[in-house]
Amino acid sequence: MMICNQFPAAAASANEKPCYACHPSKLTKKVPHPPVAEKDCKACHKSEGGNHQLQKGLYGVKKQGASICYDCHDAEMAKGKSVHAPVSDNDCVSCHDPHGGSRARFLKGNYPAASEAAFSEDGYSLCLSCHEPKAFTDDETGSATGFRDGKTNLHALHVKGAALTCKACHNVHAAPQQKLLSNASKNKNGVEILLNMTFSASGGSCKMTCHSPATYNR
Ligand code: HEC
Ligand code: HEC
Ligand code: HEC
Ligand code: HEC
Ligand code: HEC
Ligand code: HEC
Repeated sequence: MMICNQFPAAAASANEKPCYACHPSKLTKKVPHPPVAEKDCKACHKSEGGNHQLQKGLYGVKKQGASICYDCHDAEMAKGKSVHAPVSDNDCVSCHDPHGGSRARFLKGNYPAASEAAFSEDGYSLCLSCHEPKAFTDDETGSATGFRDGKTNLHALHVKGAALTCKACHNVHAAPQQKLLSNASKNKNGVEILLNMTFSASGGSCKMTCHSPATYNR
């Protein structure tokens, strides 16, 4: 009786063939994740074989969420005074393709690699897939961002005006200050820029190497 297995041929051979024999596309990424390049599928997937293709939803990944990543990467990256919401949700794959991709670090969208770059929405498609572009494009706003002085949008001023990228001020996973703000970043000449923030009820004040202490009030 063949009632419990709808794919007898594939099921029989899934135990005998290597994973990539039937899933070759995982091995042809421009920037592969090293364990995938090494064909070590079982580092992350259960080797169910059999009718694994009927296992919908969790993709047979051995551990849920970020815990599979922390098998090999340091979980310290997710600790700090502020932690990015998708990181505290253990959702690494919202930004990284676990197998590899076409961009550095297999990011699912564009993100400038340097601390300075001319602004374009497409250049930040990773961040803008979750954050409203207005927070960075509108020169004046009363609500699109908290980083404003009155109506002057200080995000637009720095990111568009001064061509500073997010990483000039923010870490992406977790950070030692509020709002994912880093303590220090490096400018294009490799010079360390310190960034000491103090927050007030209606704004903040930043003391840094770029300019004398600057305060903003919403
Ligand atoms: C004999 C061919 C074959 C082999 C070998 C095989 N698979 Fe599959 N796999 C399939 C087919 C067919 C499907 C269903 C169609 C699809 O999703 O691509 C599938 C689906 C999957 C899915 C998606 C399941 C879901 O929840 O939708 C995962 C994950 C997967 N395979 C991983 C693996 C891993 C890991 C291995 C090695 C341990 C492996 N496969 C070996 C044929 C195979
Ligand atoms: C570093 C961990 C890791 C390795 C190594 C890995 N995978 Fe995966 N794989 C995942 C995760 C995590 C998901 C679930 C992705 C999601 O939720 O978007 C997944 C999903 C899948 C899926 C179903 C969804 C899709 O993207 O098609 C298939 C098929 C699959 N893996 C096959 C493979 C094969 C074949 C290999 C080896 C060549 C492999 N994986 C190696 C982590 C890994
Ligand atoms: C089996 C071990 C293993 C697992 C599990 C694993 N990785 Fe990796 N990963 C590596 C290795 C090895 C490298 C290359 C060395 C390095 O940069 O740490 C790497 C590199 C990376 C890089 C690129 C680092 C760089 O500097 O270019 C990213 C991003 C990454 N992994 C994300 C993930 C995510 C997200 C997960 C969970 C879905 C994960 N990894 C799970 C082994 C693993
Ligand atoms: C909001 C998007 C996002 C999420 C979510 C995310 N990452 Fe990243 N990750 C990035 C970006 C962007 C970089 C490149 C950092 C840079 O260029 O400064 C990166 C870099 C990395 C690197 C390379 C080393 C480093 O720290 O620069 C590893 C490893 C990594 N991520 C693993 C993970 C793991 C594990 C998770 C889940 C706990 C995760 N990432 C969640 C966006 C993300
Ligand atoms: C998968 C969705 C997602 C992506 C992609 C994403 N973020 Fe976020 N981010 C969130 C959510 C959700 C919050 C919390 C709500 C909010 O402040 O909008 C957040 C909050 C933030 C905060 C404020 C943190 C705090 O402590 O209040 C900063 C800064 C930030 N993100 C920067 C970035 C940068 C830089 C990128 C691109 C590398 C990025 N985000 C990409 C979802 C995302
Ligand atoms: C010059 C430093 C600087 C740069 C560059 C910068 N930010 Fe910010 N960002 C801040 C500060 C300061 C805050 C905190 C504002 C407050 O709440 O007082 C902030 C807050 C945020 C928030 C929380 C919501 C909000 O707008 O108030 C998000 C999301 C965010 N930044 C994303 C980004 C992204 C994405 C980039 C790159 C496109 C970026 N930032 C570039 C300094 C910066």
